[in-house]
Amino acid sequence: MFDLVIRNAAVLDGTGAPPRTADVAIEDGRIVRVGEARDGGAREIDATGLTLAPGFVDTHAHDDGALLRYPGMEFKLAQGCTTVVAGNCGFSVAPATREAGRLVTGSAILAIGGSPVTWTDLAGYLEAVDGRRPAVNAIMLAGHNTLRYAAMGNEQRPPAAEEQARMRGWVEEAMAQGACGLSTGLIYEPGRWCATEELIDLCRPVAAAKGVYATHMRNEGDQLLDAVEETLRIGREAGCAVHISHHKATGKANWGRVAASLARVDQAAGSQAVTLDMYPYIAGSTRLEALYRIGRIDGEYAQALRLATVPGHPEWDGLRVTEVADLLDLPVDQAVKRILEGRGSETLVIQFTMDEVDVETNLRHPLVMVGSDGLPVLEGKPHPRLFGTFPRVLGRYVRERGVLTLEEAVRRMTSLPARVFGLAGRGVITEGAWADLVLFDPATVADTATWDDPKREPEGIALVVVNGAVALENGRHTGAGSGRALRYTPSAAT
Ligand code: ZN
Ligand code: CU
Repeated sequence: MFDLVIRNAAVLDGTGAPPRTADVAIEDGRIVRVGEARDGGAREIDATGLTLAPGFVDTHAHDDGALLRYPGMEFKLAQGCTTVVAGNCGFSVAPATREAGRLVTGSAILAIGGSPVTWTDLAGYLEAVDGRRPAVNAIMLAGHNTLRYAAMGNEQRPPAAEEQARMRGWVEEAMAQGACGLSTGLIYEPGRWCATEELIDLCRPVAAAKGVYATHMRNEGDQLLDAVEETLRIGREAGCAVHISHHKATGKANWGRVAASLARVDQAAGSQAVTLDMYPYIAGSTRLEALYRIGRIDGEYAQALRLATVPGHPEWDGLRVTEVADLLDLPVDQAVKRILEGRGSETLVIQFTMDEVDVETNLRHPLVMVGSDGLPVLEGKPHPRLFGTFPRVLGRYVRERGVLTLEEAVRRMTSLPARVFGLAGRGVITEGAWADLVLFDPATVADTATWDDPKREPEGIALVVVNGAVALENGRHTGAGSGRALRYTPSAAT
């Protein structure tokens, strides 16, 4: 007798192969039969008319704190995500020396809730995550901003030899403790003060562990191609795989440039490992202060900025920056300063700076995965990508616009990220694999989260199974808490 049998689903195994109707039987957290399951299950589900796929991997998450603060992880689970890759854009919660701990507790995005930072290394953090019994699995990148801040504060200079050695030591330790690689966020402080050579050196232990360098590049606008060049060079010289985060071209003058960027990636892919991710929206989201500090906000840019969450000023949530300037009767630059006062330094904004054509160009490319980049700040009006990313790709871009096939979309949400981020035994439906599964209706699956009403769970997701346990069923979160902190397994990577 199996624990669970899902019968008659159209099974997409995650490899990109077309669907085939089969029963999938689960025992002790693993898939033990794909085909015809003659024996019964303690629980049987008739999935006629529905599609069964491996659980989706959110390749670009900022859930380091959320896994402790919101272990139910409803916003990800409801999309069919069963694993998140966190520690992105250079910000991770480990290693946490006292300085890094301050960075973590001071940031709304990484906030861990009421509990103190109890760990000093990745191993300690992963233990804390397991202790919270999260709904989804998680694997971590070590964040360069965190390491650099811990080693040398916000200094605008190259690291001294011993500072570089400390950072390298932390990367080595994180890789030994199960990190899947190193992330950077090169528009943010202190990461933006680094030279390329610093990163090549820090990527050597990543290469030794066969991990991946994941980067929020130095520029996503006028100098997008230079930034791609820098990324490829780091991968070549350090000898590691590279992964471009939230690939895009921002600013009207640069629309269309993702095509050139992808062409360069194609050319490089012949001789080095390179992949990318993207979220299916024409707006990004980040901290207003970060944009302000790189001098990004001029009058025109301000028009494209909408406030998502303003701590201390909920009445401004959802307004354009220019609208707040009008309300305050201040010029835009002074209004921005006012918004950033006090707790306002944690203000999150949404930037409408991208082109719909670029979104589709990205989605058509076989090396592009899906990553929500969702910022798990549930107050105010967060970017709807936090709740809608994966169903939006399946509904809007697969079903409605026909940009890519369903099996190809599923491949790029499952087996491809599982290989690159070292998720051994996941990302495929095959006998022996972990039973991370999502059952959905391809005819109705859709995001419902909007700019004005962003915290809405998607439609068309019938069932989500994490490590063999039913975690979500017809919109109901079961509280199974069957997710795990995962350790990078290079044998899963090629
Ligand atoms: Zn980023
Ligand atoms: Cu990010």
